[in-house]
Amino acid sequence: MTKETLYFISYMWLAIAVVVHITMFFVTAPFGRHTSDKWGKTINNKLGWVMMELPSLLIMSYFLLTGTNSFSSYAWVLFALWILHYTNRSFIYPARIKATPKQIPIFIILNAIVFNLMNAGLNGYYLAELASPENYNSEWLSSPHFIVGITLFVVGAFINLRADTILINLRTPGETGYKIPGGFLFDKISSPNLFGEVVEWSGFALMAWNLPALTFIVWTFANLVPRAKNHHDWYKKQFPDYPKERKIIFPFIY
Ligand SMILES: NC(=O)c1ccc[n+]([C@@H]2O[C@H](COP(=O)([O-])OP(=O)(O)OC[C@H]3O[C@@H](n4cnc5c(N)ncnc54)[C@H](OP(=O)(O)O)[C@@H]3O)[C@@H](O)[C@H]2O)c1
Repeated sequence: MTKETLYFISYMWLAIAVVVHITMFFVTAPFGRHTSDKWGKTINNKLGWVMMELPSLLIMSYFLLTGTNSFSSYAWVLFALWILHYTNRSFIYPARIKATPKQIPIFIILNAIVFNLMNAGLNGYYLAELASPENYNSEWLSSPHFIVGITLFVVGAFINLRADTILINLRTPGETGYKIPGGFLFDKISSPNLFGEVVEWSGFALMAWNLPALTFIVWTFANLVPRAKNHHDWYKKQFPDYPKERKIIFPFIY
């Protein structure tokens, strides 16, 4: 594939993100607390997470190992960060979440697989075959956009992991209900885990400074901001004493 073709696909994919973003404010994605059997056949929640996220891990690992340029520059740093994140999301996160009778619709899994195939495919192919090795040389490692980007990535990953841990620990083994989370960034926003994910991939886009990485942060934002709004509205409906000052996803802003 030429760079022009990949850029064309990326722009089309970006346009779809805008449509999905708007749609998601009106249609709640039916998984987790919003799960529903109105969306067709459902399967075990933990297995669903593995099936949704594993394609991203496999695709990036494939491009890292087989790509023409993967190891001819420091592009492998970007691969390594992606692979680390998706190792957690594909295996560690599903193992850590508390088992509940909750199921996940196959429809959601198929959507997530398309999301991951496209984003990992575009980013992996670009870094492995199309990126110029000069863009990721030793000067890149000391450039301001790399340093700010990797800092955001690490801070975002920390926030995401810490918030996921707090949420997972709200339930004692066997419990299946919901509680109002508190402490850490939960005193400021309803979904610090989703906020952390947005910060993390913003950092990645800043570091990578290429169109597929920009496409991925736009998709992450498009997905997670409406999901955080759905979570926030759900909390307010379920808990009359839900803290009124708590924002949705961006502290002090939204
Ligand atoms: N990159 C992307 O576009 C993308 C898309 C989606 C998700 N993600 C990531 O995947 C992770 C999960 O996302 P999510 O929206 O499913 O997160 P979530 O609704 O906050 O749930 C996270 C875990 O905590 C439990 N939980 C949440 N709130 C709880 C409460 N108030 N009381 C008790 N338990 C609670 C959930 O149980 P239940 O499952 O039983 O509700 C689930 O096991 C996040 O880290 C997110 O950043 C990324």
